[in-house]
Amino acid sequence: MSSSIQIPSNEQWAELEMAARLAARQAYAPYSHFTVGAAILDNKGKIHIGCNVENASYGLTNCAERTALFSARANHGLQEVLAVCIYTPTAKPTSPCGACRQVLNEFGPSMRVRAICDGQETIDTTLDVLLPGAFGPKNLADAQQG
Ligand code: THU
Repeated sequence: MSSSIQIPSNEQWAELEMAARLAARQAYAPYSHFTVGAAILDNKGKIHIGCNVENASYGLTNCAERTALFSARANHGLQEVLAVCIYTPTAKPTSPCGACRQVLNEFGPSMRVRAICDGQETIDTTLDVLLPGAFGPKNLADAQQG
């Protein structure tokens, strides 16, 4: 049964927000000094966290959202993401970058996306709004069928 239409409860959102805030403290951002924390909720109700991990080569930096997703798959066999919360210690919330949108799409094309910050403003949307016309697993499956 697909659970991609499940919506997190208020309690789950509160947990996601707290987890994202805590995750940002682990960020390794000596170059940009822009720390990011992400927390994802999977279809089993488990929360996984990630932070951005920068690199001296700059281009090999990994964003918080992708760290959370890759780590969840490697450590817990993640299958589906229902929601992601992104925290930055900024005055305005931060929307996920294009690369992260694409990677998140693989495990939850219609997941809920919330971005929070130290100000009152939040972003509350869904991944299919942020990444319309996404390329995903179905494109490859369709091609294989001829
Ligand atoms: N960053 C994230 O972790 N997530 C995003 O969605 C946007 C950007 C990080 C990457 C880099 O370490 C820093 O923010 C500045 O771009």
